[in-house]
Amino acid sequence: MSTNVTKTLSGEDLFKNVISHAKEYGYIFPSSEIYDGLSAVYDYGQYGAELKKNIREYWWKSMVQMHENIVGIDSAIFMHPTTWKASGHVDAFNDPLIDNKDSKKRYRADVLIEDHVSKILAKADKEIAKARERFGEAFDENQYKATNARVKEYLDKAEEINTRFKNALEENDLAEVKQIIEDLEIVCPVSGSKNWTDVRQFNLMFSTEMGSTAEGASTIYLRPETAQGIFVNFLNVQKTGRMKIPFGIAQTGKAFRNEIVARQFIFRMREFEQMEMQFFVRPGEEMTWYNHWKETRMKWHLSLGLGKTKYRFHDHLKLAHYANAACDIEFEFPFGFKELEGIHSRTDFDLKAHEQHSGKKLQYFDPELNQSYVPYVVETSVGLDRMFLAVMSSAYKEEQLEDGSSRVVLSFPPILAPIKAAVMPLTKKDGLPEKAREILDNLKFEFNCQYDEKDAIGKRYRRQDAIGTPFCITVDHQTLEDNTVTIRYRDTMIQERIAIALLRDLIANEVSLRKLLS
Ligand code: GAP
Repeated sequence: MSTNVTKTLSGEDLFKNVISHAKEYGYIFPSSEIYDGLSAVYDYGQYGAELKKNIREYWWKSMVQMHENIVGIDSAIFMHPTTWKASGHVDAFNDPLIDNKDSKKRYRADVLIEDHVSKILAKADKEIAKARERFGEAFDENQYKATNARVKEYLDKAEEINTRFKNALEENDLAEVKQIIEDLEIVCPVSGSKNWTDVRQFNLMFSTEMGSTAEGASTIYLRPETAQGIFVNFLNVQKTGRMKIPFGIAQTGKAFRNEIVARQFIFRMREFEQMEMQFFVRPGEEMTWYNHWKETRMKWHLSLGLGKTKYRFHDHLKLAHYANAACDIEFEFPFGFKELEGIHSRTDFDLKAHEQHSGKKLQYFDPELNQSYVPYVVETSVGLDRMFLAVMSSAYKEEQLEDGSSRVVLSFPPILAPIKAAVMPLTKKDGLPEKAREILDNLKFEFNCQYDEKDAIGKRYRRQDAIGTPFCITVDHQTLEDNTVTIRYRDTMIQERIAIALLRDLIANEVSLRKLLS
């Protein structure tokens, strides 16, 4: 039995190591690094682009290929400017910002308050965890929360702040938001001071000019979400695809937001990618579908095997201007639980608004009800870059091996691994490279493979571990005699001898959609 030990890294150390590993091994580079980079913009390197493509494809196949009633589109980033007036983004896509006068640092006022509340809740969680340990099986969490004075105080305090904050946002009362920050005695993490400016709203859309001359040019926006490209094409797709409600339209693509505070690596970027699906339903049936998609999307995340305890739902306190119900699927990133995906019941807000602004009817004739209506919409929206970070930070492991050496391994789910198999001749002579290339030339039609003949075999294994390749196939002299190879499994490091003829099925089984989704 293996006695290899995985090093336990604290959140901050893990995050730091993931970032530097991502750069060192061609996953993620700062954008335009030779000019010292551009804040909150990143480039995906040779392996990063593959991992990202595989996540996107896994999402696309799960949503489009696996659902008869969902189709995918690819709409333009630029859209008619009225789109954003209708969607409410011109008037309401704002974040409340606040500056600290001493450090000159800018913050999102809502984030300052939410972080403060999270700290209070973390204290309650700590007490609850201690009690659970103390009482064991007999522990009743709800009773404990209701009766333990200290925990109750924490929970009541958090609730009180949340309610006050929610009311302030609903009233758009920015003076009250500032007052909350002052009352909670929140300090700037950089200067440590409470010397704050007033809170003001900041629109997150990037704008540019379309047209060759300044006079003839008009202001257009870089889309802040891909969803609007789906709404404006609702009728095109419904009619040409003869879609019957309920049905969905999916798309993946870039979105842009001038985030006030962009930090935490690729978690919050100014240019990022979304994978969104709008599901059009009968009015009145939206809550059933909302619950359906909550469950379906959680199952999709769990299918990747990153760990059940890494996910949780978080209901939105403040609903976006278009929603009547909304929640996040949160993931435990190295810096704590944060939003990975949003699931929103968007009512008929968007289609109705586009009807009003365009003067075109965006309705569906329901043959079963014999009536026309504007469908309601349930949306699932996940950030591709956040999925990337979730996968990468869960996969990253530092291990102490029983022979005294150590390795860094990216234990990706095989279906997402950038390189599925590395084919390696044991030596560079005696016809082994030719045989290895023959195997590679056969496998490469189905799988992204790599040929590697440089350095000792152990070093080559480490290199493949570090980029997350699930299978290493070694060709030796015996291969030439009996057409067998050694296959080495990344996670267990177990090696076994198998016939070349079996390789294709073995890899295909490990990376199959069927295995994960059925
Ligand atoms: N169409 C709905 C919508 O855009 P959202 O909650 O604003 O909803 C959806 O964004 C998802 O997009 C988020 O859950 C997150 O994964 C991702 N996302 C949003 N802003 C992002 C940013 N600045 N950087 C990276 N990903 C982001």
